[in-house]
Amino acid sequence: MSRVLLTDRIAADAVRVLESFGGIEAVSIGTPSPAELLDMIGEYDAIVVRSPTHVTGDVIDRGTKLRFIGRAGVGVDNIDVAAATRRGIVVINSPRSNTISTAEHTLAVMLAVAREIPRAHATVTSGKWDRDSFKGVELNQKVLGIIGLGRVGSEVAARARAFGMTVLATDPFVAPSDAGAGIRMVSLHELLPQADWITVHAPLVPETRGLIGVREIAAMKKGVFVINCARGGIVDETALADALDSGHVAAAGLDVFDAEPPGTNRLLTHPRSVFTPHLGAATTDAQRRVATDVAESIGLALARGEIRDAVNTPR
Ligand code: MLT
Repeated sequence: MSRVLLTDRIAADAVRVLESFGGIEAVSIGTPSPAELLDMIGEYDAIVVRSPTHVTGDVIDRGTKLRFIGRAGVGVDNIDVAAATRRGIVVINSPRSNTISTAEHTLAVMLAVAREIPRAHATVTSGKWDRDSFKGVELNQKVLGIIGLGRVGSEVAARARAFGMTVLATDPFVAPSDAGAGIRMVSLHELLPQADWITVHAPLVPETRGLIGVREIAAMKKGVFVINCARGGIVDETALADALDSGHVAAAGLDVFDAEPPGTNRLLTHPRSVFTPHLGAATTDAQRRVATDVAESIGLALARGEIRDAVNTPR
């Protein structure tokens, strides 16, 4: 019998999918503390996590039976993939299932920023009827710069085009001929001064940490809007807070932060900006899909030795 630990309250369907393979017992819990996880990991052949549980090198060392680590989502920055690879553990994610939810959330945040929806809503619910303070902007005929034209970036591009935006994108892994209709591939250096809106859709890896810092923000148009629904750490929060204070950046829309939760952070005091607690993939549709997809991948791997959606290739 193989045992699989599911943390972070992964959708219940995942247990059913795993156990349907036969010979698998799945145990679903909330988010364990690091010490609790170290205590229990030795009993499991596989673990499946969302973003709150960190599968560190220590957890991997203690997981003496561990053969598979599943990520119910895309980003694997909460998993020490190098340590897993060294131990011969396969890391499997769910790369397609939450693309649309994250793209839709990006557009929702852009529109909320453009029209100051949270502040306007707060005035109405507090009994005011203020039609003068909220002079929003249109997306129509504005230039959107997309940093990272992967699955989510491409879906954001399609939706932005439906709103009448001109789309520029930069991505070292996408050739201009593969960019898709109506998307012009440019370098980051060309994108920054042209875009009215800039949205990040890159993974957090050493090459993208701090990718948007003081120099890049200075190269942006004055009055630009900056959106990050990808990963905290890609946009330098201190540089962004300074640019919001000076007015160089008109407003930001952030779903992700360097530290989550962000606690007291100067960024959060900026009135025109919009902040959400890492909700990009948090729709019932996407959560059901990521959970069942990754459960099926782990089930196939444990029960039949079939590997799909692996992000590493241990020997
Ligand atoms: C992902 O990487 O799939 C999303 O950011 C969602 C999450 O981290 O839970």
